[in-house]
Amino acid sequence: MRTTLITGATGGIGTAVAENLAARGDRLVLGGRDPDRLRELAGRLPGARVLPADLGDPGTLSADGLPPRLDVLVHCAGVVALGPVADADAAVWERTLAVNLTGPAVLTRLALPALRAARGHVVFLNSGAGLHAGPGWSAYAASKFGLRALADALRAEEAAHGVRVTTVYPGRTATAMQAAVHAQEGREYDPGRWIQPAAVAAAVRTALDLPVEAHLTEVTIRPGLG
Ligand SMILES: NC(=O)c1ccc[n+]([C@@H]2O[C@H](COP(=O)([O-])OP(=O)(O)OC[C@H]3O[C@@H](n4cnc5c(N)ncnc54)[C@H](OP(=O)(O)O)[C@@H]3O)[C@@H](O)[C@H]2O)c1
Repeated sequence: MRTTLITGATGGIGTAVAENLAARGDRLVLGGRDPDRLRELAGRLPGARVLPADLGDPGTLSADGLPPRLDVLVHCAGVVALGPVADADAAVWERTLAVNLTGPAVLTRLALPALRAARGHVVFLNSGAGLHAGPGWSAYAASKFGLRALADALRAEEAAHGVRVTTVYPGRTATAMQAAVHAQEGREYDPGRWIQPAAVAAAVRTALDLPVEAHLTEVTIRPGLG
């Protein structure tokens, strides 16, 4: 049985990934900040257990609770705060970079022995903002540009250990984060206009399910025409 760790499991995309991978029989370890919400989610996913941790404080992360063999690590945790560079203070930059980049880097390092033991697979939920930075998106885009660099370097380093690395770049996806982005943009939010989290989870699953000789390194998902 595969063991899979999902960060941001209480979020829109994280929960969809958890449900999708539970359905293929993975034994899930659910990462997030809120133990009660994690336990509620674990209660409806057979065999799942919880691993509360705050990625916003990367120096406090430890290997405690990580399984000795890890087949899959899916990084779904993330935060966004929009605003021009003129208004973005140090706290915005530090929090965004900690949760979206430094935390995932430190957690990946801590999990690497277990990932190598299983010749596992790391998936990073990046963003269209990891490829193009528009006005108001500086801190978030910088964190996601950095996450792409982390993934690319990790892929090159870990190939010798049989560890695969995939970056997924979703466009706007109907989650609490997207509702918050609309609020920050001052726009009305219609979740039916955007990618559904289950579609992003299906892309993650596709990357994971490819045979071992095939390595889906990057996937871009844009909202459809519907
Ligand atoms: N939604 C979109 O339009 C969209 C588009 C492109 C890429 N993405 C990316 O996809 C990923 C998932 O986004 P989503 O839409 O599912 O967002 P979401 O619904 O807001 O979920 C975010 C998740 O991250 C967790 N998180 C936040 N701060 C954390 C911290 N300090 N430590 C640990 N966990 C923390 C949240 O836990 P709490 O509930 O405890 O805060 C939550 O589980 C993110 O990396 C995001 O950047 C989203």
